Amino acid sequence: MTNVAVFASGSGSNYEAIQQAINEGTIQATVKLVVTDKLDAYVIERAKKFGVEVLALRPKDFADKAAYEAAILAQLRARNIEWLVLAGYMRLVGPTLLGAYPNRIVNIHPSLLPSFPGKDAIGQAMAHGVKITGVTVHYVDEGMDTGRIIMQRAVDVVDGDREATESKIHAVEHHLYPEVLKYLFN
Ligand code: GRF
Repeated sequence: MTNVAVFASGSGSNYEAIQQAINEGTIQATVKLVVTDKLDAYVIERAKKFGVEVLALRPKDFADKAAYEAAILAQLRARNIEWLVLAGYMRLVGPTLLGAYPNRIVNIHPSLLPSFPGKDAIGQAMAHGVKITGVTVHYVDEGMDTGRIIMQRAVDVVDGDREATESKIHAVEHHLYPEVLKYLFN
């Protein structure tokens, strides 16, 4: 079994999809820890429901990013965590975690990278008027959504309907991320 930590800042629907796939035996991994940078993130409720430990730390309570990440790293090491799975973690990963987990950090992004990196990728795609967007799972490097691509899936934009487009993207994410983790860990 691979020991992983899931990093999330928000709702955590991708975390939940991954956790369900693990609980069903589809992915051979254990989520030892859910890490969040937001004390009120809904992902905390989801983790509690599954009985998974949560580490919630506010970056502003630390001197700098290196100190914040060093505090996380100590907790990861104490649990023998081997991979970091980012699922809506709204921060750039710094040298402390990148150095400790080379080629062992993955992320999901709601566009066909390299198009529309960064925040609000769905809004960016719709504002640009593209007809096809999608989902990318990639390795994390020091850039913003620039790491090596592992898998992608296309999603048709629902013209002028952000909500409908977003829910199609989320539905694809909830299948694609477990599929990639199964490929990486099993
Ligand atoms: C997803 O769209 C993911 O691609 C992006 O942030 C969103 C997280 O959603 N990085 P959730 O918190 O998993 O529901």
